[in-house]
This record gives sequence, C-alpha cells and structure tokens, in this order.
Amino acid sequence: MAGDSVLPEHVRRNRARWNAEAPSYVAGAERAWARAEPTWGVWRVPESQLGVLPKDLAGKAGIELGCGTAYVSAWLARRGVKMVGLDASPAQLATARRLQREHGLEFPLIEADAERVPCRGAAFDLAISEYGACLWADPDRWIPEAARILRPGGELIFLVNSVLFTLCVPAENGATGERLLRPAFGMRRLEWPGDPGVEFHLSHGDWIRVLRQNGFDVEDLIEVQPPPSATTSYDYVTLDWARRWPCEEIWRARRR
Ligand SMILES: C[S@@+](CC[C@H](N)C(=O)[O-])C[C@H]1O[C@@H](n2cnc3c(N)ncnc32)[C@H](O)[C@@H]1O
Repeated sequence: MAGDSVLPEHVRRNRARWNAEAPSYVAGAERAWARAEPTWGVWRVPESQLGVLPKDLAGKAGIELGCGTAYVSAWLARRGVKMVGLDASPAQLATARRLQREHGLEFPLIEADAERVPCRGAAFDLAISEYGACLWADPDRWIPEAARILRPGGELIFLVNSVLFTLCVPAENGATGERLLRPAFGMRRLEWPGDPGVEFHLSHGDWIRVLRQNGFDVEDLIEVQPPPSATTSYDYVTLDWARRWPCEEIWRARRR
C-alpha cells in the first residue's frame, strides 16, 4: 500500500484509528468467524431472516471493501465465492490472517485503500462492505472504484448506519434518543468528538445519485429490524429504539 504521506488525509487517519482499534475487535472477530450462518449488523440478524445475499453465489468472484477481520469474506468463501479481502489497516488484516490459518480457509488479503483498488477492471461479480469502506471511505472515490472493478451485472452490497440513527445518535456518550440532534441537509463527512476517525454518512437522495452517476441501478434498500429477542454488545442504541426505527440499512445495487 502507498506510504502514509500520499494517502488522502481521511484515509491516513482512519488507517491509524483502525490499527489502534484492532485489538478490541479480535474477540468479536473470533466469534464471527466461528458462526456458520452470516448475520448482519450490530444486532446480528441472521441471513435467513434478511435475505441479503444473492442465491447463486458458488463460483462467483467477490471482493470485500474494508474487510477488517474478514469474517464476511469467510462466510462468502464457505458458500463457494472466490473472495478477496481488502483493508487499509495492517493490524486488522493480521487478525484476519491468523483466523484464516485457524479455520483452514485461505483467500487473498490485500492491504490497500478502497478508493484506489489495485485490481484490474471488471474482475468481480460481487463487492460487499459491512461498516467498511462504505462508512469510512469517500463515496465519491470508493463507489467509482467499485463500479470499475465490477463486471456489468455485478452486485454491490453494503451495510451502514441508517440516516435516522445518524441524525439522532448523541455525539458523545449515551444511547440514541427520539430527538433530531443535527441537520440532515449538508450531512456527509462526520467527525465525532474524541474519535480520530472520519466517517461519511449520506442522505438517501445522495446515495441514489452517487450510485446512479457511477453506473449502478439501486435494487433494494433493506432497513434492518432486529427480532424481539436480539442482543448487541454496543451501547449506542437500545433494542426498543431499533425495533421502532431502522438503525442500520443495507443497500443493494447492480452494475449496468
Ligand atoms: C468496522 S471495521 C469493518 C470491517 C469488518 N466488517 C469487521 O468488523 O471486521 C472497518 C474497517 O474499514 C477499514 N477501512 C477504513 N477506511 C478504509 C479504506 N479507505 N480502504 C480500505 N479499508 C478501509 C478499516 O481499516 C477497518 O478495518
């Protein structure tokens, strides 16, 4: 991967943030790698309830953009996808590599910026991102890259915080409430107090525009509702809130 000095400022900051954060993601990664069925988001809603993944996965070529510890890639690889995991953080990839060895499931892991993917064009049938590049990279840079590396008819799937959640979550501590805390207009690049990272949160209109302008047709927007018995280790949203409003959303778009 390019040296830090030539990376965009937000990529450099997010890479450092995730290198520092990586140890606290190890235990969750171990549990996720051990899970047979994919689950989605902080409430771990099972794939059988959400139907996020295409049915005909076997033999497809896939890439995870911002794979972190690569458990999503592992779930797809077990379903017959020829996966590549890409992440900017060497520390996150070190966890992914160890878990690959422990599970006997090897696939290429690339240390790179999702805004400049070192792969040829039209190489993949599926690009996926779960709170990865889709949250931490600039959509005006990573969406064109996803479009470039996908074949016509290829699918882009990504999971992010919902717009409503982003408007209502407190900037510092505490769970999401029932009040809008920041304007929706102008929302895009967000920096939270005490967090060295840089996030990107788009309105639905802006997501649709950036996807369409880069050659994607939007096929679905799944607003994730956890089941009544769901649990999470995150304290920024309660089950009561997430049962009434979507706190996460999953976009599915197809390359024209
Ligand atoms: C919350 S983790 C999500 C990944 C995975 N689902 C997990 O939980 O292990 C976010 C990941 O995005 C990666 N990331 C952030 N910006 C990136 C960029 N521009 N290119 C590639 N990866 C990036 C970080 O290094 C981090 O590993």
